[in-house]
Amino acid sequence: MTMDKYIDLRSDTVTRPSPAMRKAMFEAEVGDDVFQEDPTVNALQDYAAELLGKEASLFVSSGVMGNQLCLNVLTNPGDEVICEKDCHIFNYESGSPAKLSGIQMFPLDGKLGVITPSQVEPAIRPISAYYMPRTKVIEVENTHNRAGGTIQPLDNIIELGKLAKKYNLCYHLDGARIWNASVASGISVKEYAKYFDTVSCCLSKGLGAPVGSIIAGSKDFIVEAYRIRKSWGGGMRQVGILAAAGLYALKNNINRLEEDHRKAKMIAEVLAGMKSIEINLAAVHTNIIIFKPLKISVDDALIKCKEKGLLLSIGSHNFLRTITHLDVSFPDIDRTIKILKEVFE
Ligand SMILES: Cc1ncc(COP(=O)(O)O)c(C=O)c1O
Repeated sequence: MTMDKYIDLRSDTVTRPSPAMRKAMFEAEVGDDVFQEDPTVNALQDYAAELLGKEASLFVSSGVMGNQLCLNVLTNPGDEVICEKDCHIFNYESGSPAKLSGIQMFPLDGKLGVITPSQVEPAIRPISAYYMPRTKVIEVENTHNRAGGTIQPLDNIIELGKLAKKYNLCYHLDGARIWNASVASGISVKEYAKYFDTVSCCLSKGLGAPVGSIIAGSKDFIVEAYRIRKSWGGGMRQVGILAAAGLYALKNNINRLEEDHRKAKMIAEVLAGMKSIEINLAAVHTNIIIFKPLKISVDDALIKCKEKGLLLSIGSHNFLRTITHLDVSFPDIDRTIKILKEVFE
């Protein structure tokens, strides 16, 4: 079986560039981006900064690089970042805060990925306590991957932002899937981004680009991030070929995320009707579904689904994860539902 024979719901990163996106890549005007002379990269960065309502933005190779660059610029070694315990930066970025920036994370126990000001305020280290790490950043992930693509309530984002200001802290958004949050909530990405000093968002997930993320913030922040990106070996040359895919994605693939959310709901509603499955249907906000099989192990479930042509992945704590994306059709969803019924009912 080639990968094409599978319905691949392991991640929204498995999409392949569409013919129209490839055409945009093929036709991209390019130059040496280390000289800042690649017109397509410059166009992408200008467009993304405008979309996010920030002074400037920078094209980077991945979401991890985006988050880590932001933290590196915002902190000094020995500083601390307050985050939710299931967030991507703390769990899935190879210990990079410690490795690349010499900083530590202070993870708090959130509900559906959300931490509240009443949890965060006591976690902020007293400025006089020279023997403690220095709190420097509050970080929020929207949508929250491990919690199941959940959307952060805007009120809470605003309140955490006020807290950051009160204590002179920086405020970072891991907005890898901010596009999904925006389409599902009707709140613009600009409105979400407004409260944060720095934002990182992915082009290569639901938006379907093969590579790349954007970080955005003030002009001064981007100048510094540009310098650090180069020092980490992230200066790329005729990278307009890739930026063209990102630009195409931002211009064409945001609104259609609504379809991915609808497809996720279709699957989730069927799962919620099964006695052999534990799922919080109300927490399926966007394109990610997490659920727990009660009669078989997650490992057995993965094997059985794969035998029938369906690829899922493991979420956390014995949960399976399913993510819809632009390379799964409605007939694929029907087949997925059939396979899930065969395996779990
Ligand atoms: C919330 C979140 N942040 C960051 C990343 C990292 O993105 P990348 O895989 O492009 O490094 C991911 C990847 O899944 C993610 O889900």
